[in-house]
Amino acid sequence: MDILNKVRDYREEEARLKWEGTFADYLELVKERPEVAQTAHSRMYQMIKNAGVSKKGNGKSYDFFSKEIFGLQEAIERLVEEYFHPAAKRLDVRKRILLLMGPVSGGKSTIVTMLKRGLEQFTKTDEGAVYAIKGCPMHEDPLHLIPNHLREDFYDEYGIRIEGSLSPLNTMRLEQEYGGRIEDVIVERIFFSEDKRAGIGTFSPSDPKSQDIADLTGSIDFSTIAEFGSESDPRAYRFDGELNKANRGMMEFQEMLKCDEKFLWHLLSLTQEGNFKAGRFALISADEVILAHTNEAEYRAFISNQKNEALHSRIIVMPIPYNLRVSEEERIYEKMIRESDMAHVHIAPHALRVAAIFTILTRLKESKKNGIDLVKKMRLYDGETVEGFNQGDVTEMKNEFHDEGMSGIDPRYVINRISSTIIQKDVPSVNALDVLRSLKDGLGAHPSITDEEKEKYLNYIAVARREYDEIAKKEVQKAFVYSYEESAKTLMDNYLDNVEAFCNKNKLTDPLTGEEMQPDEKLMRSIEEQIGISENAKKAFREEILIRISAYARKGKRFDYNSHDRLREAIQKKLFADLKDVVKITTSSKTPDEQQLKKINEVVARLIDEYGYNSISANELLRYVGSLLNR
Ligand SMILES: Nc1ncnc2c1ncn2[C@@H]1O[C@H](COP(=O)(O)OP(=O)(O)O)[C@@H](O)[C@H]1O
Ligand SMILES: [Mg+2]
Repeated sequence: MDILNKVRDYREEEARLKWEGTFADYLELVKERPEVAQTAHSRMYQMIKNAGVSKKGNGKSYDFFSKEIFGLQEAIERLVEEYFHPAAKRLDVRKRILLLMGPVSGGKSTIVTMLKRGLEQFTKTDEGAVYAIKGCPMHEDPLHLIPNHLREDFYDEYGIRIEGSLSPLNTMRLEQEYGGRIEDVIVERIFFSEDKRAGIGTFSPSDPKSQDIADLTGSIDFSTIAEFGSESDPRAYRFDGELNKANRGMMEFQEMLKCDEKFLWHLLSLTQEGNFKAGRFALISADEVILAHTNEAEYRAFISNQKNEALHSRIIVMPIPYNLRVSEEERIYEKMIRESDMAHVHIAPHALRVAAIFTILTRLKESKKNGIDLVKKMRLYDGETVEGFNQGDVTEMKNEFHDEGMSGIDPRYVINRISSTIIQKDVPSVNALDVLRSLKDGLGAHPSITDEEKEKYLNYIAVARREYDEIAKKEVQKAFVYSYEESAKTLMDNYLDNVEAFCNKNKLTDPLTGEEMQPDEKLMRSIEEQIGISENAKKAFREEILIRISAYARKGKRFDYNSHDRLREAIQKKLFADLKDVVKITTSSKTPDEQQLKKINEVVARLIDEYGYNSISANELLRYVGSLLNR
């Protein structure tokens, strides 16, 4: 019954938020809380701002978007700061159509949907409350009731600028229902709802021959026309086009450039002048954010057509490229899987990461900088450290191409390939190799990949595969060591004790016998050799480590296993080298003996308990790594 309780709570909440009063009451409210009279653009910006802004890297992250949109921080920042913010301040960008332009499945619709759902919620809050003339199909702004000649006075008293004039319908109602007394006109609080067609409109292009402008601007109501006698009687008109319904809120124009031009011209006058023409009436004022989206090819075709020049100058284009960070791409897949009917399927660790590596590679462009290959660029973009490069290089690389992220593989392709793997495999468990194989198999059928690209993409799959091989080997080897971290730490402490003694020309004390002994040269070398430190370089390396330790100590920090990248690598390799034969033999034996079986079970258990595998994927991993080590 929990859900029914929630339904009831919801209904009560709605009832509680209802407000109705006269225009005179409304003016009181406006005086107290002027934000109720803000413009559509301003309300939208408030909504975004109120959700929170956090500092991230060199920029800002808008929490409103970052809950569902990943890896597009810069594009979102630009969208908010170059459009929503200035538009809220009534600057000129408000008079342009906002056009999100980007590659297919890059999140454009998601952004628009978030804005819609966001507004629906926001109009239920105090900060986002909206009021309208009751009974008006366009939920007209009550302040339109103030006659033009009094608007300066109104501004002086309230500090609010009124835009737009009272609609023909409400002009008539004012006379007939209220005898011209504006103070008596009933005002109500409204809540945006796409379903109920309040404050949110959507228009998508269909067959241009059959699509009617009435979808946008409403139409004559032939059932009442006889009653009112004339087509120009506003009561004989249905103000139920998308532009009417979106008044005070936002209007989404899907795939705008696929639309017939005649539809676009209406938008122009609406954005530019704040009004549009419907039926035989004087212009109708409306206040709404017009948001459209399109892909790059269509946009290019559009601007290359001379005829569109006037339109073009009234559109503000905001690029929405693909995400270019591997870890964010993984989050996109996780989200999409969570929202799909594959949510119950076991996806082995690293499967999504490997897919993301492939995808990001297809989106990146080769840098001309020295020493940077695509894989290094990918790592740097994802915030990893790559020897010899720093944040400045990343910024430079980002400025190298203006259209990076505008092409490549889209997230939906990856999700579709994963789902086709699931169907083929008939066990609900998918690993990284399954995913890579499926990504590869699908390339032939991908509608927009040229042969040349295919060649490149196959190569990226091979790169992703090599990355995976390394990850897989490491994972298994780690799982073979009982408590990997512990062993690594013990080995390192041991090494450091010896290094210290060596540098200070001291002796060590044997913990068992208490005897003094020389530093264990063999042990130190066996670790150093793992990372190619020569006999001649060993002294310098050891001293460097001691200096690092004392630098840490001075800052009150503990030098630990993760404090020195190269040392960590050396320790890890040493541990693995010692293990290699055991791992190799155990994982690849066709008829494991009792001892080996025990070890395998132990490792599988560890992979399941500590590394996120299930028994299928853990066994698959072991078999794969066995074959790798035997190559
Ligand atoms: N950067 C991103 N962050 C989060 N989800 C994304 C991102 N890019 C794409 N998606 C997901 O991919 C799918 C397709 O996105 P969509 O918004 O329909 O793209 P578009 O409208 O640009 O074609 C959606 O499930 C969306 O959530
Ligand atoms: Mg879309």
